[in-house]
Amino acid sequence: MTSSIHAFLERKRDGGRHDDAEIEAFVRGVVAGRVTRPQAAAWLAFVLVRGLDDVETTALTRAMTASGLRLSWEGLSGPFVDKHSTGGVGDKVSLVLAPLWAELGRRVPMVSGRGLGHTGGTLDKLEAIPGFRCTDLEPAHLRRILGETGCFIHGQTARLAPADRILYALRNETCTVPSIPLVTASILSKKLAEGISDLVLDVKVGSGAFMPDLASARALAVSLVRVGREAGLRTRAILTDMDQPLGRAVGNGLEVLEAVEALRGGGPPDLSACTIALAGDERAASLLRSGLVLERFRRMVAAQGGDPEALDDPRRLLGAVDVVEVRAERSGVLERCDALGIAQAAFALGAGRSRAADRIHRGVGVVLDRKRGDPVAAGDVLARIHHAGRALDEAIAHVRAACVVGDAPPPPRPLVLEVVEPPPGSASDAH
Ligand code: URA
Repeated sequence: MTSSIHAFLERKRDGGRHDDAEIEAFVRGVVAGRVTRPQAAAWLAFVLVRGLDDVETTALTRAMTASGLRLSWEGLSGPFVDKHSTGGVGDKVSLVLAPLWAELGRRVPMVSGRGLGHTGGTLDKLEAIPGFRCTDLEPAHLRRILGETGCFIHGQTARLAPADRILYALRNETCTVPSIPLVTASILSKKLAEGISDLVLDVKVGSGAFMPDLASARALAVSLVRVGREAGLRTRAILTDMDQPLGRAVGNGLEVLEAVEALRGGGPPDLSACTIALAGDERAASLLRSGLVLERFRRMVAAQGGDPEALDDPRRLLGAVDVVEVRAERSGVLERCDALGIAQAAFALGAGRSRAADRIHRGVGVVLDRKRGDPVAAGDVLARIHHAGRALDEAIAHVRAACVVGDAPPPPRPLVLEVVEPPPGSASDAH
């Protein structure tokens, strides 16, 4: 690559396209250190400006997957499914969907991440459960859990798609994260490495989302579905609302409690509706109402070292926290319940982290009493803030700014905004 790296960089700089072999050589060179960090960073910047077509993005995805271990579930019956969310506020769907799919006969080797910035991470939520292990289980152990329980939720190991770790860190440093082909390859390479056959993507749209507007979220969803299909995964995507938080709870332990309500067949209707839409199975709604899915979740928690009894005990999930109510100053209708503002409140309280090494508090966060469109009387509770003495005034100010009471009901906004499916007869249909 040493002699050809300049030609490779010049090609993208000048708007040309790469063939599969040179993309593979580039990714191998990045992982082996033959391509220097400045060279890799320059290429990322050229891609941000010039783009990659679907064929190039597929080659990049495959090369990034091949840079590490690819999990194999040979000997277990499939289908092997997972979902990826582009990240939202109050998004605890994975905790409900993984056991729901398992109960529906799928196997779910779910690899999840931690929260960074204002969006929460599934692993942080699960770690509110005493004893739950989601970072240090060996592949053989995960395989046993998958065989016996039908699902696990675990963090990414260093061996899955290592090229993505290197390139993602460089993208963060060089402001080249928001490139649709780079995001597509980053997400799909990790999912392909899990050894799944089916992937569902929840692309969030709105103030609390990575893609705030519908057009850019749609472009990302289409790219993910097309490239996923080309790379051999049955892939579909739904675009869902993230202008207001999903459900009522935002904060790690609080979200586990709300997920348990949903697993019991109750909980906020938008949480179960989002889970059912992603499940893509007509039996999902009645199964969720049956309560059987909670038993499956308890088994998964126990298999991963967690104490299932804690799921019924808010004090054990939350630790020591105090609760302060935020009340409406006037009557009317809740016109806005801004996802980003609520996330900023939870973040200030200590529910999130700005650097990977930051510690979080599992019990703090916000529980919404009112959601967009709900009637409100002066003095009604709008939200309850669970705090541990840190940044309470700041959190109250964020919640007040986020929850806007007005005179007119806001225009209706469906939870599922669009569905993006591969065209019939496409490569991934043929599995
Ligand atoms: N999530 C990922 O895994 N990769 C990206 O590039 C963006 C979001």
